[in-house]
Order: sequence, then C-alpha cells, then structure tokens
Amino acid sequence: MNLVLLGPPGAGKGTQAVRIAKAFGLLHLSSGDILRAERKAQTELGRKAQDYMDRGVLVPDDLILAMMMVHIAKPEAAKGFLLDGFPRTVAQAEGLDQRLAARGARIRIVVNMVIDDVEVTARLTGRWSCPKDGRPFHETFSPPKKSGVCDDCGTPLTRRKDDEPDVVSQRLRTYHAETKPLVKYYTEAGILKNVDATGGVDQVTALIEKVCRTA
Ligand code: AP5
Repeated sequence: MNLVLLGPPGAGKGTQAVRIAKAFGLLHLSSGDILRAERKAQTELGRKAQDYMDRGVLVPDDLILAMMMVHIAKPEAAKGFLLDGFPRTVAQAEGLDQRLAARGARIRIVVNMVIDDVEVTARLTGRWSCPKDGRPFHETFSPPKKSGVCDDCGTPLTRRKDDEPDVVSQRLRTYHAETKPLVKYYTEAGILKNVDATGGVDQVTALIEKVCRTA
C-alpha cells in the first residue's frame, strides 16, 4: 500500500506518519526531514533548499521530485511507502503519478488531515523536535517524558527556525495557494479520504487507521 498524508503545516502529518508507517509496515518518507538532513550535510541540494525553507515557501518542484524518487526507488520502499509533506503542488502530484506508473505502481490512498489555521498555529509555535530522528513533541499537547530531551534517543530537543510566527503565517499562505488544490486533484482521482485532525494524537491515529483498513 502506498499512502500520502496531506494537510497544512502543523496538522500532525509527521506525528501520525511515524505511527501509521509502523502499523502498516510502510517506509516513512518525509520531504521536510529529508531536506533538513540534506541541509545538515551541506549537500548542493541542501544549500539550494535552505533559503526557500527559511522563508516558508516551497522548494522548486524539479528538485523535490528528483529527491523523492531516489528514496521511493529504494528496496525498503518495495513493500509500500507513506509520503509525508510530498506531493505539495499539482505539478509534483502529476510528476509522481507519471513516475510511479512507469514502475507499475500508484498511490492508493490520500489521507487529508482537516484542521483550521488557528489550531495549527498553536501546534507549530509550541513544537519541539528531535534533531536526530525528527520526532516532534509539543510543550503542552505531547511533552517529552523528560523535559527537553527526546523520549527515543535522549538527544536535546530543538525548535525549528520556520516555526517563528511570521514564517508560520507564510507557510499557511503557501499551503492555501499551492497545496490545497491537491484536495481537488485527489478527489477527482477517487482516492482522497478526509480525516478530522483536531482531536488528540491517539484519536487521530485511530481515524487514519480505520480509513486505511476500510479503503
Ligand atoms: P515540512 O517539514 O514538510 O513542514 P510542514 O508540512 O509545514 O509540516 P510540519 O512538519 O511543520 O507539520 P506536521 O504536519 O508534520 O505536524 P507535526 O506532526 O510536526 O516542510 C518544511 C519546509 O520544507 C517547507 O516549508 C518547504 O520549504 C520545504 N518542503 C518540504 N516538502 C516540500 C515539497 N514537497 N515541495 C516543496 N518544498 C517542500 O505536529 C506539529 C505539532 O503539533 C507538534 O508539536 C506535535 O507534537 C503537535 N501535534 C501533532 N498532532 C497533535 C494532536 N493531534 N493534538 C495536539 N498536538 C498535536
């Protein structure tokens, strides 16, 4: 099963992706995490992406498509993959569909995480993440067991530069202008499932699992 998690920044895509990938044995591929790893390693792609990410706008489609297809082609993805943060434009979705079709594959389900801008802004401005494995925490909604460190690996948690309030506003504008049209694209393809993402983490996981098992 190949799955896409769609939704605005802060909808909980990363939080749910880890759980859903584990539950269904899928390879979790987060475009944001891959880009941040490229930046950390100071690769050419990472350097090109840096300015776009810091401004809260999208990295060009050709760079993202090439990057994601490298990961989708990995043997670990053969049993199925979960895409988190990609595709994010209609051009990316079309490019993905064409490249998958050439390999005899396709996206089976797109889970659209529905939540409003006020709620996601509260989530993002309280977010802390593990710089080592990318796991997100929230100072109020899902705090780490021990203050300031990752539950899984003990690494000190950090805040993302693009979670500053002005960058969050820009990311939301980018989402509404460039990513929201994907709701129509995947509805027309007959594979979009809406899920209410406003509940607690366990509640949202249960809703997504149900949608995936019954699709
Ligand atoms: P990316 O890293 O993909 O960021 P994003 O999509 O904006 O998503 P986030 O990671 O901010 O949020 P999320 O939905 O994963 O929420 P999370 O689970 O962390 O992209 C960053 C940048 O990279 C982009 O701006 C762009 O420049 C570039 N980029 C990436 N992909 C690209 C692409 N395809 N094309 C072009 N450019 C691209 O949760 C948020 C917080 O809420 C956490 O603190 C969490 O603990 C908490 N939380 C989660 N669920 C709940 C819940 N149910 N209740 C309460 N709190 C919750």
